Amino acid sequence: MAVPNPLTQLSVEQLRRRSSMKWRTYPEDVLPLWVAEMDVPLAEPVAQAVRAAVDLGDTGYPAGTAYAEALAAFARGRWGWDGLAVERTALVPDVMLGVVEMLKLVSGPGDPVVVNCPVYPPFYLFLRSLGRPVVEAPLDPAGRIDLATLRDAFARAGERAAYLLCSPHNPTGTVHTAAELADAARLAHDHGVRVVADEIHAPVVATGTTFTPYLSVPGGENGLSLMSSSKAWNLAGLKAALAIAGPEAAADLARLPEEVGHGPSHVGILAHTAALRDGGDWLDALLTGLDRNRALLADLLAEHLPAVRYRPGQGTYLAWLDCRGLGLPDDPAAVFLERGRVALNSGADFGTGGAGFVRLNLATSPEVITEAVRRMADAVS
Ligand SMILES: Cc1ncc(COP(=O)(O)O)c(C=O)c1O
Repeated sequence: MAVPNPLTQLSVEQLRRRSSMKWRTYPEDVLPLWVAEMDVPLAEPVAQAVRAAVDLGDTGYPAGTAYAEALAAFARGRWGWDGLAVERTALVPDVMLGVVEMLKLVSGPGDPVVVNCPVYPPFYLFLRSLGRPVVEAPLDPAGRIDLATLRDAFARAGERAAYLLCSPHNPTGTVHTAAELADAARLAHDHGVRVVADEIHAPVVATGTTFTPYLSVPGGENGLSLMSSSKAWNLAGLKAALAIAGPEAAADLARLPEEVGHGPSHVGILAHTAALRDGGDWLDALLTGLDRNRALLADLLAEHLPAVRYRPGQGTYLAWLDCRGLGLPDDPAAVFLERGRVALNSGADFGTGGAGFVRLNLATSPEVITEAVRRMADAVS
């Protein structure tokens, strides 16, 4: 039986009963379209895996490599990539902690880390606590990696630098092409820069778009990647992720302290594995729903907020809205929250190039998106 659109299954009343961050941070009269949680029910294969674990009391410590095997099969099937070797993977608690651990493997205290801003704000937070100064290499106006800018950033950062790539890119939704990734890899190699790729959004791409794993491109052999089912199947509350080493980074990953593998949850791993193994139809239904939501948002903005510029991204379920044309004196996200009762992410938190933008989470129903744009338009009329 075809899986129905997961984005149209839950009412706002049902969603308000949730106790997670998206629905509990703001008062009841605010529509929350901010943090990257999705307004979807759990995919049935995932729910079954969790239920089976609960029924069996299978809630102990994790064992085995089923998650990595499921990801390797998924990578082969979806991306035509057969280079994910299970023996070059490691379980980590989540993607951000995995990023931290990978950076510890390939850089030392005080070594700079290059990021393509505007970018996922926790990159800045985690790098600061890790004691790694950030060197920004802004994306170009089309939201793509600019090679000259990246070269300049690598040169400024010096030989001991690492590059934290976000692929697909949060917040712009840019899906880097194989050629762009290979160019970045060559540049990193020339500058002696090690690459850590955060590929958490990899399964979430628009119809007709192909995601390219960083480790699959020429020059990506000494890269390290982080992947997880958490964004594509909404499993952030079931902690688990995988670190993956390219063939030339195997020795680095082998130095990962054993205790890092104590962090991921066994039930989380079961859920993430079921998602990759049996959640393909659900994912396809989600991706079709997201295609529609991107088109809907573009239409609604053109009609009600023509001064807001939106270039639908090919990946992620996040929309990056350029609100500078509204001429607001303050942060547009604050205006939309205070006057419109819509919670969005403030672009300023995403680093250089983010001021005047907001990030809107499209992983909700068309009704919620329609109501949000109506409220946003009223807020600035
Ligand atoms: C690019 C990116 N990396 C990491 C995360 C967080 O992942 P985790 O909860 O596995 O640390 C997110 C969440 O939205 C994200 O967008």
